[in-house]
Amino acid sequence: MQQANAYIGTPQNRVDGRAKVTGEAKYAAEFDAPDLAYGIVVSGAIAKGRIASIDTSAALAVPGVLQVFTHENRPRTAWFDHKFRDETAPPGSPFRPLYDDKVIYSGQPVALVIAESFELAAHAASLVRVAYETDAHMTDLDLRRSEAYVPPKKRSGVKAPPSPRGDAEDAFAQAPVKVHAEYRVAIEHHNPMEPHASTVVYGDDGSLTIHDKTQGAQNSQSYVSSVFGLSSDQVRVVSPFIGGAFGSGLRPQYQLFLAVMAALELKRSVRVVLTRDQMFTFGYRPLTIQTVSLGANPDGKLVSIMHDAIQTTSTFEDYQEVVVNWANLLYHCDNVKLTYKLAQVDTYTPIDMRAPGAAIGVAAIETAMDELAYAAGIDPIELRLRNYAEVDEADKKTFTSKELRACYQVGAERFGWAKRNPEPRSMREGRELVGWGMATGVWEAIMQKTAARAVLTLDGTLEVATATTDIGTGTYTILTQIAAETLGLPMAAVTAKIGDSSLPKSPVQGGSWTAASSGSAVQKACQTIREQLFKHARQMDDSPLANSSLEQVTFADGRIQLMSDPTAFVTFAQAMQAGGVDRIEAEEKASPGMLTNMRYSGYSHSAIFAEVRVDEELGTIRVTRIVNAVAAGTILNPKTARSQIMGGVVFGIGMALEEESMLDHDLGRFMNHNLAEYHVPVNADIHEIDVIFVSEHEEKLNPLGIKGVGEIGVVGTAAAIGNAIFHATGKRVREYPITIDKLL
Ligand code: MOS
Repeated sequence: MQQANAYIGTPQNRVDGRAKVTGEAKYAAEFDAPDLAYGIVVSGAIAKGRIASIDTSAALAVPGVLQVFTHENRPRTAWFDHKFRDETAPPGSPFRPLYDDKVIYSGQPVALVIAESFELAAHAASLVRVAYETDAHMTDLDLRRSEAYVPPKKRSGVKAPPSPRGDAEDAFAQAPVKVHAEYRVAIEHHNPMEPHASTVVYGDDGSLTIHDKTQGAQNSQSYVSSVFGLSSDQVRVVSPFIGGAFGSGLRPQYQLFLAVMAALELKRSVRVVLTRDQMFTFGYRPLTIQTVSLGANPDGKLVSIMHDAIQTTSTFEDYQEVVVNWANLLYHCDNVKLTYKLAQVDTYTPIDMRAPGAAIGVAAIETAMDELAYAAGIDPIELRLRNYAEVDEADKKTFTSKELRACYQVGAERFGWAKRNPEPRSMREGRELVGWGMATGVWEAIMQKTAARAVLTLDGTLEVATATTDIGTGTYTILTQIAAETLGLPMAAVTAKIGDSSLPKSPVQGGSWTAASSGSAVQKACQTIREQLFKHARQMDDSPLANSSLEQVTFADGRIQLMSDPTAFVTFAQAMQAGGVDRIEAEEKASPGMLTNMRYSGYSHSAIFAEVRVDEELGTIRVTRIVNAVAAGTILNPKTARSQIMGGVVFGIGMALEEESMLDHDLGRFMNHNLAEYHVPVNADIHEIDVIFVSEHEEKLNPLGIKGVGEIGVVGTAAAIGNAIFHATGKRVREYPITIDKLL
């Protein structure tokens, strides 16, 4: 019999879906405040140099303009006394808006115009005149390759490449079958629907309530209080809904600093919204030049893996991500050499973008593996199976669970891989060449220490709360499912409260760790409530549960009942009344198991299959079919999880065919900073996406067996498409996106 209130693992609609489609859900720029003033950012025009003069007189002369802030008149803030680094900051010195006359990247904010209306501010901003003295800049990674360096300080949470094993150079030299090539994935910018925005509500007592577009309300809160020297109870960040972020909201961005600065100075509520163009004036997915060398025996068994990456960073921070560690995680090999270096260019610091590192590192490795399959004359899946890593060889650990073999099998079956003729250009339909390709995906299953609170009230409603955000991933829904199931209540009786810095401590939402982290904390808090309820229930006069233990009862439909005799029960209300309480509150922390992390490696895996159709004369490419078979432990909600994987696949289609931020190295500036010229996939680009969740029993990472699904969908997708394009056309393109010009 289906247990009542069994929600974990079942498809559920988003609990916040109605609020989102009706407009009831408010985003950072939609919160109102009495007497709200509007800020518009003036972006700088040169890549490097100094501001020789800045003339704000015409802007200030516009009636309704309240102030124009520049480096010349900016208020002194605590920012400039101590260098606060936010929760996700890489080593270095964070960018400080309006700090001085120096310009260190193109698009840098040089002024903030505040006016009584948005339109006035925008008009006045157009009247600000800036004169520059320019210095020579460098934005071309190719010209900085020789100056690449191993980052001296490690970014927290980012694993450096493992030490070399065996002799990869020698093994490669001796290998009978070889692939050696350079791969690139273009710079990409995050383009969530919601642009970055902060509405700072200035309280009568000078306290600030801030609605910020962020992946971490507490990260923004501690940034503002530290930078402006405010006590933490003077600053609250409330960000209940986020219109996508993909990593761009991991760090507090400059609109937050500027809005708070203006609000404090003017003692007024202020809103600053970045334009779509300005979304290209902070972090991005870095350009990475990757060199992959694979050596194998004629049977396809790898004897050498070498993977080198050189990646852009800024002149002020050493951004780092895990690019090269994946090859050896996926494939068994005794001779491995992985290197990772940075090179400084005059742009803003890169920032994590969905599956940072893996999305591009695996794109290179999985393209190279396809090349090896052709070089050895072995089916691409068979090649991967022959090199299947049974253990994490770099860390010498076993996997907590790994159903990648099943992903290959189930995905191949669904796709119809067995019918593939490996010969390039062998499939054709009308004027289109048809190609089938595949790739592997992998992403780390991470859990972070998180606290959550649960409050059960006499009326049978439960509220669970933790500070994490929902960037569109479905966090509200899965927390509601976990809470409802743990306590045996209908989902409708449960409210999840998140996105508020005043709630129990949570890390930023990122790294695909939120479900495992917040979910475990919510589960724990609800379990504590169970125990207390049960204690009260047993103490009730003539309690039918008096002689039972917690293991002998179930919690369902607001009752605690004996498993052996469903007629013997105590309702939650009866139990609470017996205990003389009208609410039960519990706060708990969940942390990753230290021992587990020492002994095991936890990763999610996937096998992605792509069908493309290439018009031979026009070079146009359509991705007509994707099958993505994912093993990611417990899938809490197959409906929202499927949406995550689909979103990741769409991201991957963008990476494979469209997304590319183009730098003009003469100007040192991103030129296609709008959605007309920076192409993201639109509905017409997306055809069939078939998502399969391969069953995977996971019990080591956390009690619910959650690995996370926010990022795995993008990993491998670009390579599967690139490999399909090779199969269709016989042309190997090693630079993503694969645009028409590269194909013709
Ligand atoms: Mo993700 S790039 O950690 O938002």
